[in-house]
Amino acid sequence: MAEWHELREDLVAQVRERGISRAVADALLTVPRHVFLPQVPVHAVYQDEAIVTKRDAWGRPISSSSQPAIMALMLDQLGVEPGQRVLEIGTGTGYNAALLSHLVGAEGQVVSVDIDADLATRARGHLSEAGHPEVIVVCGDGAQGFAPRAPYDRVIATVGVWDLAPAWLDQLSPAGRIVLPLDLRGVQRSVALEQADGHWTSRSVLPCGFMRMRGPFAGPERTWVLDRGSDLTISLPEGGEVGDVLAALGGPVTELFTGVSTGRAQLVDGLSLWLAVHESRWCALSEAQPGWLASGPLDSRGFKTVVGIVEGGSLCVLESEAYDTLVARGFGPGGARLAGDLVAHIETWDAAGRPMTTGLHIDAHLTTAPGDGPVIRKRHTTLALSWDIG
Ligand SMILES: C[S@@+](CC[C@H](N)C(=O)[O-])C[C@H]1O[C@@H](n2cnc3c(N)ncnc32)[C@H](O)[C@@H]1O
Repeated sequence: MAEWHELREDLVAQVRERGISRAVADALLTVPRHVFLPQVPVHAVYQDEAIVTKRDAWGRPISSSSQPAIMALMLDQLGVEPGQRVLEIGTGTGYNAALLSHLVGAEGQVVSVDIDADLATRARGHLSEAGHPEVIVVCGDGAQGFAPRAPYDRVIATVGVWDLAPAWLDQLSPAGRIVLPLDLRGVQRSVALEQADGHWTSRSVLPCGFMRMRGPFAGPERTWVLDRGSDLTISLPEGGEVGDVLAALGGPVTELFTGVSTGRAQLVDGLSLWLAVHESRWCALSEAQPGWLASGPLDSRGFKTVVGIVEGGSLCVLESEAYDTLVARGFGPGGARLAGDLVAHIETWDAAGRPMTTGLHIDAHLTTAPGDGPVIRKRHTTLALSWDIG
């Protein structure tokens, strides 16, 4: 029995290196994660990794216990205090709800909503076993929030959301804060928002990667399989169709070198975000087996991944050459033009001081956004983005 205590302490020591608060570290040191993951070997439970707990009929993950470091950082973004009322969207195993319950203490209240009845039932069991039967677990579409227990001081989504659901904003108290993994045109960031001057303004923004919300409030993003042999897919953050991209990829290529060099961190955290935000034709391609894509710095967990721009049956992708020099490769009849557009974005990003997630500011407006910075239009809100480059 001593084993898991030690493993948990090691995990928390590791997570603390990310700069989390004492209160959140204390919650991680108190709540036993293995109770929420009974089928998982205890040494795996206390790694700083997300653990998939449910898949759909096609084998795609639809529930997990999120990565502990990301959960901890988001709890700090949320700034939970004893006695508060908190609504969580995405109960999953119930582990994060237990951390929240520890943070709000006996005077507080945690309500957590999951869309799947089996997950909600299991989470109730885990929460009771871990000593948190007071958490209210509701089965339903989280986009509706849970009005009977509103208002809440804090709302947190632990599932990727495409837009701010009106119910969450209605159910938050005026001084409340909401934290959610928000889609910024295919790129996700955990954003903490509070009300200010008739709109919602970000207090902090962090990189994150959550599975997407299901149900009526799911986003419009679409992933098309281009080649079953290599499992080549293309994801379009705003939905829609593509032309014969595979034929384009098999044809002649136009290469435009940029003279801009960058390593993986700037590419993942900075340039990919910049492109997504500034380019509505942004796309991501991913491949599981050797086939069409070259290996590159965005590859992850055995998948080759590239980002680029797609328009009809033409596309261009961002790759890097020797010494991390960025190159735009265009394919199809409009490939050279798209590669030119991509190079222009890269040069603008470079000239702007290579903005990253740090310094990103997001204002969510319920009506049309003012200002002249990049804007992303959603169903209920318009996001206006700007960077503090200092
Ligand atoms: C990453 S898991 C949440 C992890 C969880 N907080 C934990 O500590 O284990 C995301 C969860 O969101 C749930 N979900 C997806 N769409 C939803 C929706 N529309 N409403 C409520 N829950 C949803 C999934 O069923 C899944 O359990």
